[in-house]
Amino acid sequence: MKLRDSLGLTFDDVLLVPKHSSIASRTAVNTTAQLSRRLSLAIPIISANMDTVTEAPMAIAMARAGGLGAIHRFMTRERQAAEVARVKRAESHIVEAPATLAAAATVAAAREAMQSADIGGLLVVDDAGQLLGLVTTRDVLFAPDAQAAITSVMTPRARLVTAPAGIDLEAAQRLLHAHRVEKLPLVDGQGHVTGLITAQDIIKLAQHPLATKDAKGRLRVAAAIGVRADDVDRAELCVAAGADALVVDIAHGHSDHALRMVATLKRRFAAVDVIAGNVAAADGVRALAAAGADAVKVGVGSGSICITRQVTGFGVPQLTAILDCAEAAQTEGVPLIADGGLRTGGDLTKALAAGAQTAMIGSLLAGTEESPGASVIRDGRRFKVVRGMASLTANVDRKALDQSGRLDNDDWEKVVPEGVEAVVPYRGRAADVLHQLVGGLRSGLSYAGATCLSELQANAEFLRITPAGIRESGPHDVQTI
Ligand code: XMP
Repeated sequence: MKLRDSLGLTFDDVLLVPKHSSIASRTAVNTTAQLSRRLSLAIPIISANMDTVTEAPMAIAMARAGGLGAIHRFMTRERQAAEVARVKRAESHIVEAPATLAAAATVAAAREAMQSADIGGLLVVDDAGQLLGLVTTRDVLFAPDAQAAITSVMTPRARLVTAPAGIDLEAAQRLLHAHRVEKLPLVDGQGHVTGLITAQDIIKLAQHPLATKDAKGRLRVAAAIGVRADDVDRAELCVAAGADALVVDIAHGHSDHALRMVATLKRRFAAVDVIAGNVAAADGVRALAAAGADAVKVGVGSGSICITRQVTGFGVPQLTAILDCAEAAQTEGVPLIADGGLRTGGDLTKALAAGAQTAMIGSLLAGTEESPGASVIRDGRRFKVVRGMASLTANVDRKALDQSGRLDNDDWEKVVPEGVEAVVPYRGRAADVLHQLVGGLRSGLSYAGATCLSELQANAEFLRITPAGIRESGPHDVQTI
């Protein structure tokens, strides 16, 4: 037995001491962050791989804002891969495999295909993949006969504007404007469809200048994977669907299970970064880095919905955990992700100043429009549900998934939950929450006299404060309205 005599600190226990600053404005700082060995982000925030936080809509919102979403794994692997694919299809310079429809299809089939893929147009092709026409929502919206052939309502090939496969975006934009059209099918010399450029994608380029994108202009996305042998198949499907990073999702990341899975994923998927965790001490960082991890998540029991510390007695207050891990991470050359417990821009700034490169956020984002959690109304106010992934209901739902829906009464009784079910206030769009967090961080950088996140770390001086200091840090001695 060993007793460490220093205090474990978390965000509220400290403040950062202001430093001389030459920063003229909050817009003059750079929040670019290294997420993992090969991936960088314009804002240092990723959404948690929790089933009340990240599916495709959240991952799309996160990547558009310059962060990243990690799709949770509490669904079939096929559905998870489909969520990944939805993010990858949300925008791109060129749609490489546009959705198509056979000439024999009906109006009803076109409606159904557009609705299920959430797209506004389909290319109609013959058996050899040659372009026959284009059908859009407007063509089928009020078509009186749902059983009519799609060829009777589509715009035929002869009236379509098309372009050769290698066209660049500027030339495509000129063509779209010249002909006042919104979709430009790309075809090879024999008329085979090779891609599609849409006006929407070009508009999105300008709308989201910070977006996290791959070389093809598609939004980046991560997918969470467990540590069972069959999770390698899950990883395979998610990578095939376009996942840019895999998150090894296990509460105790400094374990043989986690180390084995990291090594396996690194061997199998050389092109994809592997994010591993969670740990709360330097030895865990070193072990995961040695296994090949491209980023390490720090946080044991720090999350808003976690009761791991109460149930098991284990954990390290989050600021100390980050400080303890930071030196090892720097020596190993592996970025740290501060996972759990963030409530404000101030917490984010402290986590990054302490040595994390990015932060993972759960319940703050669970309250937004894009989270998959259910909405509830209480006393006339809207809330959204959030739950720990080790909570009672999450454990039981996972068992139901594993056992194809068959549950016994003692499946409930056997669970020892390490998380809770809760509600959080509805907070509007994820982009608005991110704007507040990043606004706080930008201001924090200027208080630190730092133009970027590495300067924030270099200039950071933490000061421990007393309960009176904590009280002084919030609104006090006034009635807030
Ligand atoms: P926040 O505070 O942002 O934290 O909501 C999100 C992180 O909490 C972790 N997590 C859990 N930890 N039991 C735990 O001990 C759980 O049931 C649980 N569910 C999520 C996870 O690291 C997440 O990113």
